[in-house]
Amino acid sequence: MNTRAQWGTRAGFIMAAVGSALGLGNIWRFPAVAYENGGGAFLIPYLFALLTAGIPILIMEFTMGHKYRGSSPLTFRRMNKGAEFVGWWGVLVAFVISTYYSVIIAWAMSYMIFSVNLSWGSDTEGFFNSFLQVEEVTAGMSGSIVLGVLVPLAIVWFIILGVLYKGVRRGIEIANRIMIPTLLVVFLLIVIRAITLPGALDGLDALFKPDFSKIFSPDVWVAAYGQIFFSLSIAFAIMITYSSYLPRKSDITNNAFITGLGNSAFELLAGIGVFSVLGFLALESGVNIAEVVAGGPGLAFAVFPEIINQFPAFNATFGFLFFISLILAGLTSLMSITETYVAALVDKFNITRGKAVIFGGGLAAVASILFATQGGLNYLDMVDYFINQIGVAMLGFVEVVLVIWILRKGKELRTHADRVSDIKLGSWWTISLTIITPLMLGYMLFQLFKQNILQEFSSETGNYSGYSDAFILYGGWFVAAGALILGIILAVLKWKQPKDTSERGHEE
Ligand code: PHE
Repeated sequence: MNTRAQWGTRAGFIMAAVGSALGLGNIWRFPAVAYENGGGAFLIPYLFALLTAGIPILIMEFTMGHKYRGSSPLTFRRMNKGAEFVGWWGVLVAFVISTYYSVIIAWAMSYMIFSVNLSWGSDTEGFFNSFLQVEEVTAGMSGSIVLGVLVPLAIVWFIILGVLYKGVRRGIEIANRIMIPTLLVVFLLIVIRAITLPGALDGLDALFKPDFSKIFSPDVWVAAYGQIFFSLSIAFAIMITYSSYLPRKSDITNNAFITGLGNSAFELLAGIGVFSVLGFLALESGVNIAEVVAGGPGLAFAVFPEIINQFPAFNATFGFLFFISLILAGLTSLMSITETYVAALVDKFNITRGKAVIFGGGLAAVASILFATQGGLNYLDMVDYFINQIGVAMLGFVEVVLVIWILRKGKELRTHADRVSDIKLGSWWTISLTIITPLMLGYMLFQLFKQNILQEFSSETGNYSGYSDAFILYGGWFVAAGALILGIILAVLKWKQPKDTSERGHEE
């Protein structure tokens, strides 16, 4: 009974895993996070988090998927019956992410068209707000649907569902094999152009100048862990699902290193590119770099168009390429996020992939319309803030503590990974997962709860102000609790197929 889909080649799997990891998080999140958290000095907590949490968890998730050959709920169930709900929880959070991630790609599509004749004009921020019509409504209200977002959104879902419908090898693998190399080439062109602009060096100086006083601040460590988790797509059921399609004889540990280090290399490259152009913008407009630094939608859709306006030549080409790379990085990530629930539905309800794509993907597409309304940006900001802050720490903590401490699977997984991999896991892996990661994530959760429950938000949250803390707080908890409760319900539902064909044996 081995009918589960498989990747065609090792490179195909790596491209898909890298495709999932490289996303908006690398391009617009990393540069701003690094800058705000000590610049060059941020690399210390960042590398620590990568080596003691990011890559070890990636190895753990790859091993779980490879060993138990199931979507996230099925994998957790095969580890232990009572653990299935954790798999669903991750899948449901992934579902929520996909509903707004798709909308950001839709904006980028519109902006790709706008870049042809720089139709955003000179007031780029004003243009962004009027494009989204966000000022038409008070925060918390949806208002009507924005057509300029809805149309590209439909295209995004059409592409994603089409790729997933085609399957693992003929859909996801081929799409990534085309999109990831294209992304790398396009992005490299952008970065080369960026670092040769006047002012670029000042930008890089601002990014990398180390502020060592910051590395003693717990917030900086929290930021480093958050960045690694989001950027590597771990703890959201994604990598478990992708690795469940690995053939029997596949390397695990080496693949995880390639994925993890590749992701960070791209992230650094993005930091270099973004800060070079920020340095250029600061020089052109005669202001301090600190005044032009931004992250998130503000960076991509307000600051970047301004930079593109100022470009010495080939403005439209540069703009076009920038938005293409956002679209490619976004689409390959969205595929992996959406595949988590497609795979889970196929496994649990024994339906065809086609049906799972239409039902699961269709539901996500419909839900995403909420973010295509006039009030969409406010909702998006709320959900995104909450998932980045709390979702990452909570899911990561629960997953690691469950697998390592409660189910005590560490040794078994390590043996399994070592059996198939070139690189053998040392005690570094065990110590990272048993001690360092639970302590760090536990501390992170404690800090976040303290800030978010006891003291309310201390600073302005998200990228846009204008709505109350309560809106984020209650909305966010509503989404998180809803995902957990629904996860438990789904776990209790009956399996429509024999689920205990169990793990991949030790024979061979
Ligand atoms: N890792 C990807 C990114 O950096 C995609 C992703 C986003 C994965 C959110 C999980 C959660 O954008």
